Amino acid sequence: MPILSLQNVGKHYDTDGQTVHALNDVSLSVESGEFVALVGRSGCGKSTLLHLAGAMDFPSQGVVFIDGVSSSTLDDAKQTRLRREKVGFIFQSFQLLHTLTVEENIELPLLLAGRTNAREEAIKRMQWVELDGLGSRYPHQLSGGQMQRVAIARALVHSPKILLADEPTGNLDTSTGGVILSLLQRLTREQKTATIMATHSTEATAVCDTVVRLRDGRIEEVTHSRQS
Ligand SMILES: Nc1ncnc2c1ncn2[C@@H]1O[C@H](COP(=O)(O)OP(=O)(O)O)[C@@H](O)[C@H]1O
Ligand SMILES: [Mg+2]
Repeated sequence: MPILSLQNVGKHYDTDGQTVHALNDVSLSVESGEFVALVGRSGCGKSTLLHLAGAMDFPSQGVVFIDGVSSSTLDDAKQTRLRREKVGFIFQSFQLLHTLTVEENIELPLLLAGRTNAREEAIKRMQWVELDGLGSRYPHQLSGGQMQRVAIARALVHSPKILLADEPTGNLDTSTGGVILSLLQRLTREQKTATIMATHSTEATAVCDTVVRLRDGRIEEVTHSRQS
């Protein structure tokens, strides 16, 4: 069973009497250890799809199954728990807390979840992303690539089954972006996350297993670009 499955999913937004159809009849399944690139021009629905895949928002039509459970059937508390346990999210703008150190940023999700071994897990994740020794620095003392590594470590600190990345290399130069893409590729393999990354980077398609092209809220093409 795929860890993530969207079945005939639609999403519309009603604003000021206007209806925007952000997604239409989207069906997509992602397996553990699969790295999926979500491509298409701005406004085609990439971020909307990621939000639905992470139970941060809910479909207007169809069903989103996360680890076999339909996200729409859960009450607020269960949705929050599902997100906290199963999903990690990475953003273009890193979204680190600037008054906290690297270590504190990474362990925060575990502390909020009431876990006692937060520091130990944070240190382990810093090794995964090759940030050893930088734990007591503050975000402003890091390069963009290092900040994104911290954000990746934080997204993986609770060992989520699903990793969602919204244009994670959008604020990085090409060479640093390439390093981050390789890192995401390696972590997807090693940690067996189902990873979906919205991206404009053409290099991304070379490191991903599957490329899903969206156009006006619909899947236009799915390409399996490499064998996993
Ligand atoms: N919260 C919202 N309210 C109204 N319209 C939205 C909202 N979020 C996204 N949209 C619209 O949905 C469409 C898809 O947006 P989005 O998923 O952000 O695309 P992408 O990430 O590919 O740029 C766009 O037309 C956008 O304006
Ligand atoms: Mg977007």
